Amino acid sequence: MNKESLEKTFTEIYKTQGTKPQLYFAPGRVNLIGEHTDYNGGFVLPCAIQYGTWLIIRNTTDGLIKLASANFDGRVTVSSAPPLSRQQVKWFNYPLGVMDQFIQRGIPLTGMELLYSGDIPNNAGLSSSASIEMVTAYALNEILNSHLELTELVRLSQKAEHEFAGINCGIMDQFIVGMGKKNHALFLNCHTLEYKQIPLTLNGFRLVIANTNKQRALSDSKYNERVVECQLAVTYLSQIVDISRLSELGFPQFFKMQDKIPDETIRKRARHVISENQRVLNSVNCLWKGDLRQFGYLMNISHDSLKENYEVTGPELDTLVEEARKIKGVLGARMTGAGFGGCTVNLVKNESVDQFIRQVGENYSTRTGLKADFYIAEISDGVRKIESK
Ligand code: GLA
Repeated sequence: MNKESLEKTFTEIYKTQGTKPQLYFAPGRVNLIGEHTDYNGGFVLPCAIQYGTWLIIRNTTDGLIKLASANFDGRVTVSSAPPLSRQQVKWFNYPLGVMDQFIQRGIPLTGMELLYSGDIPNNAGLSSSASIEMVTAYALNEILNSHLELTELVRLSQKAEHEFAGINCGIMDQFIVGMGKKNHALFLNCHTLEYKQIPLTLNGFRLVIANTNKQRALSDSKYNERVVECQLAVTYLSQIVDISRLSELGFPQFFKMQDKIPDETIRKRARHVISENQRVLNSVNCLWKGDLRQFGYLMNISHDSLKENYEVTGPELDTLVEEARKIKGVLGARMTGAGFGGCTVNLVKNESVDQFIRQVGENYSTRTGLKADFYIAEISDGVRKIESK
């Protein structure tokens, strides 16, 4: 939806005259490598993409918060006085969760009218929820004059997801949605939150995202289960070595002590996280050197570990990856995001992109009965205000 039609819809819905509404945008993201490492204090390497969420918003004096979306039917109106109540319709809880975090920080809400519009494919693991959270946090920070730092908006959006949406996610998604930079990947230490923008020079290659279009049943509870499994791995390992996060161990060190984890499943989870962490470091080196071939290889073994050790892929993601790897000109193919459905990210030579989309699409649908969608990623900036001309 363009700016004009969004403003028109806003006026149609809210009618009342008031202060001029302001427009904000937050992107979605694709993670290049470093999957399920963030909540283990590890490294990640995501990029912000061209798809995202627009929010048009203004404050009012009636003490009511009104939420609507151009993508979904249904609206909600709640009082701006605490406590804010959780809603049955899932997406409302993302903005309300963020608003609740402002209240928890002693920042009172005013009445306001909000209209969202997004083009991130739903439920595809491209961070549509973090995008809604961050666009809300960024806009509220401005219209409430609360002067919170961007990193604080990132943290409070993550907390909103824990408390209002019930997912114990790491910080990667909110961080990249906040700090993304055009044509750069963000190399983030999720424990210290130190980060570096790594120029993404793809010399003749494209990042192609492929969507399984598989409904991600029970993905939230399986995600939380993985978080608990990693904590259990730390409990076992910390009896031998003084650690509080899996990311504190290097792979050689883990390799020597892995037998101390009695449960094979928990051992595999730790193996993935610790090896994936090292793969992020190696990937950053490859990108600095422009060694895309080696980077693609790391993407491939990342997927294989997510399949064998972390068990978050499933037949649809695995099929997309298998078919992708058959195409000449594909250097790497892996799932991206939480898994259990969602998308893959593929490093594909320019000249092979058309063939990739055709052939992987056909073979995927023959093998699974589902239709895949494809998007060519443009690496974009993080959350921002869209100034009116
Ligand atoms: C989801 C979570 C992130 C991260 C990824 C897996 O996107 O929101 O915090 O854990 O899964 O890497």
